[in-house]
Amino acid sequence: MAYNLLKGKKGIIFGALDENSIAWKTAQACHAEGAELVLTNAPIALRMGTINKLAEEINAPVIPADVTITEDIENLLTKSMEHFGGGVDFILHSIGMSINVRKGIHYTENNYEFTHKGLDISALSLHRVLATAMKMDAINEWGSVVALTYIAAQRVFPDYNDMTDNKAYLESIARNFGYQYGVKKNVRVNTISQSPTRTTAGSGVKGFDGFISYAEKMSPLGNATAQECANYCVSLFSDLTKMVTMQNLFHDGGFSFTGVSQAVIEQMEK
Ligand code: NAI
Repeated sequence: MAYNLLKGKKGIIFGALDENSIAWKTAQACHAEGAELVLTNAPIALRMGTINKLAEEINAPVIPADVTITEDIENLLTKSMEHFGGGVDFILHSIGMSINVRKGIHYTENNYEFTHKGLDISALSLHRVLATAMKMDAINEWGSVVALTYIAAQRVFPDYNDMTDNKAYLESIARNFGYQYGVKKNVRVNTISQSPTRTTAGSGVKGFDGFISYAEKMSPLGNATAQECANYCVSLFSDLTKMVTMQNLFHDGGFSFTGVSQAVIEQMEK
């Protein structure tokens, strides 16, 4: 059911790879709530993915941008502003990648070139997008920027590898840039810390099946789905959450504040 929460708003969605992607579901949810969108992803992902299907469905142009390249972000923002005839009201950063994770390299043996690349893509990219947008004055007054993160930024999940450090850095940027952009233009910046979710990036983590069912058993409400995350993003892009900024917001069915659940105790007693 739609409430027109984003009527008249314009947004950029990074990271819709396929229909499992959190960004894909968020784009659909924003469209249903009345927003106009631009979709973007890395050129290689555009070749591999099925983004054109989504673009047609929600009537949005697709503008390629590798988030590690400043000129790509400048081009994306210029073209988006031309398309919308002005600045944007919201941005979703739904991007994550670790080569160490992909190649199964243990945390204690990380290859630092891979670490640098993963950090650049997964965390510094938020700074790059915000800094470029600020220079170009691409985000409207009271705009809202959301990036997706995971609780491994605060607690140890060994198989999450160097993505834990990337997420800690990402959350820190959201806080610090949130301050700067808030003072400058009332733009707010938050991260959503989402439950494990079956997507291309999520399933790449070693032992993901055990991981996701453990979280399901530990969360009083169960794991939050990608669709539910999309709905939460809509609320943060809307004017109903206007004074929320610089926060890391857990969207995890209560996992983050549960010490142990009855379901897990019963499992241990078997
Ligand atoms: P996904 O694999 O569908 O999305 C990741 C996206 O990052 C892809 O669209 C990919 O093309 C994009 N990307 C990678 N390198 C890029 C580059 N150089 N430039 C531009 N885009 C690039 O997976 P998912 O799960 O939807 O991931 C979205 C976000 O949610 C990520 O930040 C992820 O860490 C976060 N997250 C995911 C969870 C999960 O269990 N799936 C749990 C908590 C957070």
